[in-house]
Amino acid sequence: MLAMPTFRLWSALVLGSVFAVGADQSFGLTPSLFPLQQNADSADLFPMPPCGSFHLEEATIDQMQEAMQNGTLTSQQLVTCYMLRVYQTDEYINSVLQINPDALAIAAQMDAERKAGKVRGPLHGIPFTVKDNIASKDNLETTAGSWALVGSIVPRDAFVVAKLRDAGAVLFGKATLSEWADMRSNNYSEGYSGRGGQCRSAYNFTVNPGGSSSGSAVGVAANAIAFALGTETDGSVINPAERNSIVGFKPTVGLTSRAGVVPESEHQDTVGAFGRTVRDAVYALDAIYGVDPRDNYTLAQQGRTPTGGYAQFLTTKQALRGAVFGLPWNSFWVYADDEQKRILGAVLCLIKAAGATIINGTEITNYQTLVSPTGWNWDYGTARGYPNESEYTVVKVDFYNNIKAYLSELENTKMRSLEDIVQYNYDNDGSEGGNPWPLGNPAFYSGQDGLLASLETKGIRDETYWQALNFTQTSTRRGIDDALSSNGTRLSGLLVPPDVGQSYEIAAQAGYPVVTLPAGVHSATGMPFGLAIMQTAFGEAELVKWASAIEDLQLGSDTPYKRSLPRWHGYLERNIPVLNIYEGSP
Ligand SMILES: *[C@@H]1O[C@H](CO)[C@@H](O)[C@H](O)[C@H]1NC(C)=O
Ligand SMILES: *[C@@H]1O[C@H](CO)[C@@H](O)[C@H](O)[C@H]1NC(C)=O
Ligand SMILES: *[C@@H]1O[C@H](CO)[C@@H](O)[C@H](O)[C@H]1NC(C)=O
Ligand SMILES: *[C@@H]1O[C@H](CO)[C@@H](O)[C@H](O)[C@H]1NC(C)=O
Ligand SMILES: *[C@@H]1O[C@H](CO)[C@@H](O)[C@H](O)[C@H]1NC(C)=O
Ligand SMILES: *[C@@H]1O[C@H](CO)[C@@H](O)[C@H](O)[C@H]1NC(C)=O
Ligand SMILES: *[C@@H]1O[C@H](CO)[C@@H](O)[C@H](O)[C@H]1NC(C)=O
Ligand SMILES: *[C@@H]1O[C@H](CO)[C@@H](O)[C@H](O)[C@H]1NC(C)=O
Repeated sequence: MLAMPTFRLWSALVLGSVFAVGADQSFGLTPSLFPLQQNADSADLFPMPPCGSFHLEEATIDQMQEAMQNGTLTSQQLVTCYMLRVYQTDEYINSVLQINPDALAIAAQMDAERKAGKVRGPLHGIPFTVKDNIASKDNLETTAGSWALVGSIVPRDAFVVAKLRDAGAVLFGKATLSEWADMRSNNYSEGYSGRGGQCRSAYNFTVNPGGSSSGSAVGVAANAIAFALGTETDGSVINPAERNSIVGFKPTVGLTSRAGVVPESEHQDTVGAFGRTVRDAVYALDAIYGVDPRDNYTLAQQGRTPTGGYAQFLTTKQALRGAVFGLPWNSFWVYADDEQKRILGAVLCLIKAAGATIINGTEITNYQTLVSPTGWNWDYGTARGYPNESEYTVVKVDFYNNIKAYLSELENTKMRSLEDIVQYNYDNDGSEGGNPWPLGNPAFYSGQDGLLASLETKGIRDETYWQALNFTQTSTRRGIDDALSSNGTRLSGLLVPPDVGQSYEIAAQAGYPVVTLPAGVHSATGMPFGLAIMQTAFGEAELVKWASAIEDLQLGSDTPYKRSLPRWHGYLERNIPVLNIYEGSP
């Protein structure tokens, strides 16, 4: 199993050097990149070499752009430097599932365009990865991590991939993920897929790396890529972002097209962006949003998006003077551990000192019926005795239907339905864990119970389904909107601890946007956690404004409570399943 990623990487590097012949690049021998034991538990364990004369580690997209513009860097160099970084780190963190054999060729085109005076925008020549459930019509597989889809040919690029290509960004490869974006099992190893193996967070290898967009977030956090796309049904962008000390942007359902994305639920799925800074993530968001005739949910954004995109709302800490934020304390904050409450409390004090007002106790109406007091649980309605008020009731039915529609456009595969996928997993029990452990695969302890639960519905939209859909959407939207209009004051946003899964769970059901910022690190595990902002439908402009203002405040003060580099704790450990597996989310 460990040999496979090596092979994939080497073949990509060999292809890469073939393409590089003729381009005026020269390649020196690689300095020793072995992680030395004496550097264990420090950011120096995996030192990142400079990219030519450019300091690539933690570079912003603007800095990369400036260096390409002033001639000290090329897109081809960026691609080879990220290939080297992936080669250095992938045996350890496994953030990249497959490298695009055309990455260098695309970069060469972008360099040529720049030389000819054409720069498409802030992402021109910038390499990115997408989660392996986002289709690309090229030599990359699109499999949601499952062997069942290997060899399948997609009809076209996903809308978001096509948009990023138009923006001049370079598709570097596919990122590892939790298989089927976590739909497949309810007790599993977060970040694991049959095809991709176990992705691990560079902050602590032994624990849940965050998911299901694990590799997208882990790669950005470890400087193995400039930015990345992921998908979220309920937490899958926000959770891995906050657990890896990066910015995660989960847009309103309908802002980013899901056409060409292996689906989970049309009512909750959304494509989101990861960056090391708010600006980097917003550049990605600006490139991918828009109306797509192939996803009619995107029609809802008409008249609700700003002319000229979201980057115009990026601002500085001065904007915080006069802002009014709410804290849904009993809804979410009470579930945060004491260390988080203390550290996030210090960040809240900074925000107040910068001139913002923070109102405590702006609760989500009826939060008691919406989220479980014991943690993230998308079947909480059923746990309360009301399957007709459960998110999982909706997702199970939607997945059955939506996956069938996705499969119907694939060629070169026998997979046509959820029935086919379930049978495939049984037939390949050892790799795909059709049966629960110990028959199947230890990473999929409960087998494929999520797929079976969906199969059982046969996709029938009965009375229970419609009631559950109406309940989850209506109650969560009202809940968030009520909290945002605290006693008649229209709030700038709700500040929440995203490590508490109940927070993004409400936004997921509502289809509302969330952004998370790096905030602190748990002393017991070295795992980061974030501070998130929630808003109403199409409230992205506010999220960009406040997230960038708070980030500017963090970076401009001497607070330690901001993004920090990974320290690679437990880099030699390879436990499966990873610990703490219940915090993940689809
Ligand atoms: C080019 O831009 C990079 C990134 O801002 C900077 O570090 C470098 O000093 C610049 N070099 C020249 C020659 O202007
Ligand atoms: C989940 O899986 C772990 C092993 O990974 C097992 O120890 C635990 O009992 C399982 N939990 C449930 C509720 O089945
Ligand atoms: C999208 O199209 C489907 C089928 O054509 C229709 O049932 C649904 O209401 C439409 N949704 C939106 C948001 O327009
Ligand atoms: C918010 O109010 C609760 C009591 O309702 C209190 O325990 C908590 O400390 C307050 N938080 C902040 C940040 O003021
Ligand atoms: C809203 O107003 C009511 C009545 O004045 C007050 O009791 C309550 O504490 C206020 N809530 C918030 C969150 O300010
Ligand atoms: C769910 O079903 C119960 C009866 O079992 C009913 O009282 C309740 O109103 C239903 N909820 C919704 C949202 O329809
Ligand atoms: C949807 O839910 C809302 C509030 O819970 C309720 O007022 C409305 O009647 C419901 N609509 C349908 C079609 O069930
Ligand atoms: C990594 O996480 C494990 C499990 O929580 C913990 O026992 C270990 O101490 C952590 N490592 C560090 C260096 O914090």
